[in-house]
Amino acid sequence: MNILITGGAGFIGSNFIFYELEHHPEDRLICLDKLTYAGNLSTLKDVLDRPNFRFVKEDICDREAVYRLFEEEHPDIVVHFAAESHVDRSIENPGVFLETNIMGTAVLMDAGRKYGVRRFHQVSTDEVYGDLPLDRPDLLFTEETPLHTSSPYSSSKAAADLLAMAYHRTYGLPVTISRCSNNYGPYQFPEKLIPLMIANCLADKPLPVYGQGLNVRDWLYVEDHCKAIDLIIRNGRAGEVYNIGGHNEMANIDIVKLILRELGKSEDLITYVTDRKGHDMRYAIDPSKIHAELGWLPETMFADGIKKTIRWYLDNKEWWETIISGDYKDYYRKMYENR
Ligand code: NAD
Ligand code: DAU
Repeated sequence: MNILITGGAGFIGSNFIFYELEHHPEDRLICLDKLTYAGNLSTLKDVLDRPNFRFVKEDICDREAVYRLFEEEHPDIVVHFAAESHVDRSIENPGVFLETNIMGTAVLMDAGRKYGVRRFHQVSTDEVYGDLPLDRPDLLFTEETPLHTSSPYSSSKAAADLLAMAYHRTYGLPVTISRCSNNYGPYQFPEKLIPLMIANCLADKPLPVYGQGLNVRDWLYVEDHCKAIDLIIRNGRAGEVYNIGGHNEMANIDIVKLILRELGKSEDLITYVTDRKGHDMRYAIDPSKIHAELGWLPETMFADGIKKTIRWYLDNKEWWETIISGDYKDYYRKMYENR
């Protein structure tokens, strides 16, 4: 099979490419990525020369380029990761989120209709459900939870999900959607909580915790997410949404303290900063549908996954030090100075 993977030079997309190459060497993978600030070709350096892998640098919003690629490759399956993915950036500059996350998804689905695909998989997020209160641990997001978004990022993802379901109903495009909780693991861009805290910790820089650090996220090791998507594209039912989550809720402050402990640093590095605007309080996924239908369960315990992740950042300093020495410095200054 030919599998087109958009956003494969980013965090989850690259991990998915590695997963597919290992578990399905019979398939051909085509990675389409614009290489925005979040995309990094060096992440894919070990697989670029594989005979069953092709990298194409294009924008998913460029209809002509996307159609040309479909004409050349006739993908059987599209796994659509490409997106603007950082909530804080969406608060600063929503426009590019609407363009990439909504319009880019529409272009890809139009190509899917024109050239015919066996499956179009939209990689979505639990953030489309909004948030849950801290004092109701019994409440979890199911696939039936109404969409109720908080940030320009989550709104753009929800819009793309609705469009995907509309393409399924109206045009019969064989769409599936997965909505996953927070991922962590190798190759995550250092603007996100866990790698940012690891990098700052190693440099003895302040660890900027938003608000009181009590917001809860449901953390999943990235390889478990990749496995879930692999099961959905091969065995999932078209027209269905699948929630993916690790039953692993943790408050931000506890994650930060754990990283400090693992790296042998003092909690004095913790600095409470002004909260994110519209900050979602708690996410928690009920993954019973994907478990019942496809037999998926998370395999990596957080205690092991976080150790592996910290080890990876220690062993691959060049990868992230190159990133934080460039434009990222301006980003960091803008977002965190005088906060
Ligand atoms: P990321 O920001 O690390 O990577 C995004 C990738 O998309 C980059 O390689 C970037 O170059 C590429 N891209 C951006 N705009 C593009 C465009 N116009 N054309 C082509 N390529 C473009 O993101 P991530 O964290 O790997 O997330 C991947 C997907 O998973 C996103 O759709 C996100 O909404 C979703 N998701 C992420 C998480 C998480 O915890 N990170 C959880 C659930 C769902
Ligand atoms: O839930 C899935 C989502 O998880 C994905 O859809 C998004 O693409 C992904 O970025 C992530 O969104 P979050 O906003 O939850 O992740 P982030 O790493 O930005 O923040 C995690 C929590 O940590 C959140 O409550 C905000 C807080 N935080 C974050 C940063 C960057 C801090 O306290 N300090 C920080 O410096």
